[in-house]
Amino acid sequence: MAREIGTVGVVGLGAMGSGIAQLAVEAGLETVGREVELPRAQAAHDRIAHFLMRKVEKGQLDAVERDAAVGRLRLTTSLADLADCDVVIEAAFEDLGVKHELFRELERVLEDDAIIATNTSALSVTEIASVLERPERALGMHFFNPAPLMPLVEIVRAERTSEDVFDAAFALGARLGKTPIRCSDTPGFVVNRVLIPLLNDCVRVLDETGVTPEDLDAGMRYGAGWPMGPCALLDLVGADVHVHASEALYEKLREPRMAPPPRLVRMLQAGKLGRKTGEGFYRYD
Ligand code: 3HC
Repeated sequence: MAREIGTVGVVGLGAMGSGIAQLAVEAGLETVGREVELPRAQAAHDRIAHFLMRKVEKGQLDAVERDAAVGRLRLTTSLADLADCDVVIEAAFEDLGVKHELFRELERVLEDDAIIATNTSALSVTEIASVLERPERALGMHFFNPAPLMPLVEIVRAERTSEDVFDAAFALGARLGKTPIRCSDTPGFVVNRVLIPLLNDCVRVLDETGVTPEDLDAGMRYGAGWPMGPCALLDLVGADVHVHASEALYEKLREPRMAPPPRLVRMLQAGKLGRKTGEGFYRYD
């Protein structure tokens, strides 16, 4: 049986990791956030504190609850400080080598029955978990950007994930306030398998039709009911993240629509990554 979950570890406190840590503290779970450098961890802490304060200002959260939630977050640069976590969600850089190294080290420091999850969006969970001595303790928990606002989490069963680990992660997803869905470890799982080629199509439409990003976005918002237009969404996700995920899917599925459109690759090369660099399809102050 997987153990009761009281303490959650989050490895990597970028946009996704800090969002996941925010969900965990809001759900009343003790949370240990690990970053490679303390200033980055502190930045994530400040981001979480800011969003929780906005919730107080908007009357969505009690000030006392907010302080308690922030107080549940511990920061560290050392993986050894995750030793007492019941589950660790890895949200580090999307590189197999990086994830293998983290998984090996996590298995060394964690108790035998602790769960190791990855938030990977496009790599194989089975391949990430292959370096573990007990791969049955690993699975995917794939959140969507921005994690505190997007209601879905994909619970990804890898080849060797045990039933109780899968069930415990599914229950954790619900406890974090999400709608969990059951997925297999297929390229892009469910949502990215659909969304990545769709966003690539949108970028190709820009070139084929000469339509502006503003008009394409308005078209998809008001004609197809998207909550935000594809260009705004790509700016939110980041050209780096999207191109990397497209390449990973293309490598596995070999469908031309999966390959990143040249326009996005050029934006990546020029450092126009979207919101995070202040410029993508749009400019951000
Ligand atoms: N925590 C808490 N609150 C947050 C937040 C966070 N991390 N980030 C933003 N907010 C708050 C903002 O503070 C804002 O409140 P404020 O302006 O009063 O301070 C509030 O959320 C709402 O902001 P918006 O007015 O922008 O909210 P919208 O109602 O427009 O909804 C949205 C925003 C939920 C992002 C909506 O536009 C949406 O659903 N967009 C689509 C996003 C999407 O498709 N994401 C998936 C990307 S693909 C992916 O992640 C897969 C990966 O593998 C690449």
